[in-house]
Amino acid sequence: MRILVLGGGGREHALVWAVAQNPKCDALFCTPGNAGIAEIAECHDLDINSPDLVLSFVQEKEVDFVIVGPEAPLVAGVAEHLRRHGILTFGPDKRGAELEASKNYTKEICAAAGVPTANYAHFTDAEAARAYVQAQGAPIVIKADGLAAGKGVVVAMDVETALDAVDTMFDGAFGTAGAEVVIEEFMEGEEASFFVLCDGTTAVPIGTAQDHKRVGEGDTGPNTGGMGAYSPAPILTPELCDRVMDEIIYPTLRELQKRGTPFQGVLYAGLMIKEGHARLVEYNVRFGDPECQVLMMRLGAQALDLMEAAARGDLEGCAANWAKDHAMTIVMAAKGYPGSYEKGSVISGLEHLPKTSKSMCFHAGTSSQEGKIIATGGRVLNVTARGESLREARDRAYEMVSEVEWSEGFYRKDIGWRAL
Ligand code: AMP
Ligand code: GLY
Repeated sequence: MRILVLGGGGREHALVWAVAQNPKCDALFCTPGNAGIAEIAECHDLDINSPDLVLSFVQEKEVDFVIVGPEAPLVAGVAEHLRRHGILTFGPDKRGAELEASKNYTKEICAAAGVPTANYAHFTDAEAARAYVQAQGAPIVIKADGLAAGKGVVVAMDVETALDAVDTMFDGAFGTAGAEVVIEEFMEGEEASFFVLCDGTTAVPIGTAQDHKRVGEGDTGPNTGGMGAYSPAPILTPELCDRVMDEIIYPTLRELQKRGTPFQGVLYAGLMIKEGHARLVEYNVRFGDPECQVLMMRLGAQALDLMEAAARGDLEGCAANWAKDHAMTIVMAAKGYPGSYEKGSVISGLEHLPKTSKSMCFHAGTSSQEGKIIATGGRVLNVTARGESLREARDRAYEMVSEVEWSEGFYRKDIGWRAL
């Protein structure tokens, strides 16, 4: 099978790494890829948000199966365009991607399907939104409707902050994303992520994870795309996972099917858990980054079989078989991230790191220049390890981190603190 992975971050390196281990994989391409991915797959620069350009590439390389990494190509309709041309593709149609692209749409689906989530109201003008905030009081959560790269959410602990957020969003701080605003009840609890593969009808759980969104130790400072993650999430016990399937995942899939838009791909449910009950915070329609890195480390080669079965509508009877182990990933980022940072610093020491089924340094923002590895992004490396316990996974991962020589980079030293 000739396979193409779209994307070029740590998530895609982990996907490529898992897929390459499967004997079914005869040829592997990645667009655009990065320096780490280039060691396993043939990388090419390509505008992956252009359905026509991706299709031409697929035809030229005689690709049999396409795996879409990030949400942007899904929102742009790349997956459905490929499918219309007979290409087996993992990832939802544009309509399915709305679950991530529109918070209001997700809320509507939840209401229709009876999925437990925060109470909410939807606004298209600032005056009504302000009045609602005044009436509800704080804490309260203000969200720009639409993709805002994780920056469109303000969890306001007081009314003044909430009103400021409403004004900022209607003033166009998030572009067109702010033209509509969802205001939600504040949910207390512990957050965890739940991942299922879907083929339109059937869903197969493929693991749970928790990430660290804040840049600083002790979960302080500004939000980032994620500074580290581990799997499984201890708070999501097997019993709670069963309930999440029954109360959240299956009702959602049935509602989507009823509307004529069955969901195929990975559904990533962000959950808030309190006193043994889970409520939905949000859906994403792609793997989390860096959560994918820990999921792939635990799944290995079977990830390809499962994604292929999802794309073929063949998940019935499938299950993920994972060893009773734990994985952790530590994100190494450029100093300054998530604010402004320098690009172009040289990273060394990577050649000393093991590359095994238990230890892998996934690349995110890197490129290779004259034989050197250069940092080209905010999040740059995802040092990932597996162990029989979370502690063992953590010790192995931090040991690897200590081998990396990169004075322009930093990482959090407390990934997994809550679980450990
Ligand atoms: P979202 O983009 O919807 O995932 O929101 C980003 C983050 O904001 C979540 O991961 C939560 O930490 C927080 N958040 C969002 N909605 C709520 C809510 N209703 N109550 C409490 N925290 C929330
Ligand atoms: N790490 C959070 C996300 O991928 O959305």
